[in-house]
Amino acid sequence: MKVLVIGSGGREHALCWKIAQSREVDCVYAVPGNPGINRLEKGKCLPGGVKDFTLIIEHIKREKIDLVVVGPEDPLAAGIVDELNKYGVPTFGPSAEASKLEASKSFAKELMRKHDIPTAKYAVFDDIESAKSYVKIHGVPIVIKADGLAGGKGVTVARDENSAISALEAVMTRKVFGDSGSKVVIEEFLNGEEASILAFSDGRNVLPLASSQDHKPVFDEDKGPNTGGMGAYSPAPVVTPETEEEISNKILTPTITAMAERGILFRGILYAGLMIVDSKPYVIEFNVRFGDPETQAILPRMKSDIVPLFWACIDGTLDKFTLEYYDIACVTIVLASRGYPGSYEKGMLITGIEEAERDPNVVVFHAGTSEKDGKLYTNGGRVLNVTSWDTNLKRATERAYSAVEKIHFDGMHYRKDIARKGLAKLGLL
Ligand code: AMP
Ligand code: GLY
Repeated sequence: MKVLVIGSGGREHALCWKIAQSREVDCVYAVPGNPGINRLEKGKCLPGGVKDFTLIIEHIKREKIDLVVVGPEDPLAAGIVDELNKYGVPTFGPSAEASKLEASKSFAKELMRKHDIPTAKYAVFDDIESAKSYVKIHGVPIVIKADGLAGGKGVTVARDENSAISALEAVMTRKVFGDSGSKVVIEEFLNGEEASILAFSDGRNVLPLASSQDHKPVFDEDKGPNTGGMGAYSPAPVVTPETEEEISNKILTPTITAMAERGILFRGILYAGLMIVDSKPYVIEFNVRFGDPETQAILPRMKSDIVPLFWACIDGTLDKFTLEYYDIACVTIVLASRGYPGSYEKGMLITGIEEAERDPNVVVFHAGTSEKDGKLYTNGGRVLNVTSWDTNLKRATERAYSAVEKIHFDGMHYRKDIARKGLAKLGLL
């Protein structure tokens, strides 16, 4: 079987790495992919953008691709699955309509409110004066969210009124996220610990993956501006078996059922970004795809072949599947370029990946790299995801950080406290 993955980041490298382990798979292609994917024994990158549907269809026909797996949200919201289905290409991911769960926060919030799915209280505004009055009445802390896609940067947790007002002005008046900011969701601040639960869905059935925890702010102790994610680990001890059960019964299944009742079959990965408050889970966001970097920390733990699961979601037969995991913990640490998440430089020589990967429990996923004459250079804000696993979280974390020490590029920075919350919960600090 030939599988094509759409995307070019660390998540897509991890997906290709896992897909390539399937005995059914002869070749895993990526558009546009990255040098890490190209270096996989079964890997091959093809040129093109993730929304370049015409070119993607040409590749699919020429290479006789059997299955497509979509990584990022942009092509999903733009209807890549609908488009490929028109050509009869089996594609893993939700339709444009189902992708509204991520692409419109007001749509997701309205669905949750209607079906009593636990989430922060909220209101939606399309004029700034009413939005400002709401902030004045409700006070701070309060959370301001651009309604549409904003590359993970559309959320401001405002701890004083001035920050709330300037966030509203940036989003609604200055339109820093374009049309994504024509509406805003203003939300109650939830005080707890975050976790991510990703689940396969075939439109009716839900199969959750192992829990994980991301680290959004750029600096240690959750300081500094938000990023796409600076590291992750799995499992996340904040998600106890009871909480996991509750997430499944009160959040994931009701969401998929509510979508189906609206005539929208959600087939793909439903990602619930959660705040766990006193052991109770609340949704802070839905995404309609694998998390990045959560996927890099989950897939090395997964014993099951992932390819039959993609087919089961497409065919509507997910109820016949279960997931098996290795009893290990996994940690991924993001190595970022100087300046990220602001503007950053590219083209710095990367060394030490081979040395890091001499440890058989280490894989370095490429997130933003380029290759020239056999040498690797930085080519993005998040450059590498150094991933390691071991019998417990402490060992996995230590192993990941020793691998990080072997890698170098000018301006490289990373968080030194990935997995710390989990280690504290387990009494392993
Ligand atoms: P998002 O882009 O939706 O993941 O939001 C970015 C970050 O804002 C999240 O990772 C949380 O840390 C924070 N956040 C979002 N919504 C809330 C909320 N209602 N209460 C507290 N923090 C929030
Ligand atoms: N890790 C956050 C995201 O994938 O959106």
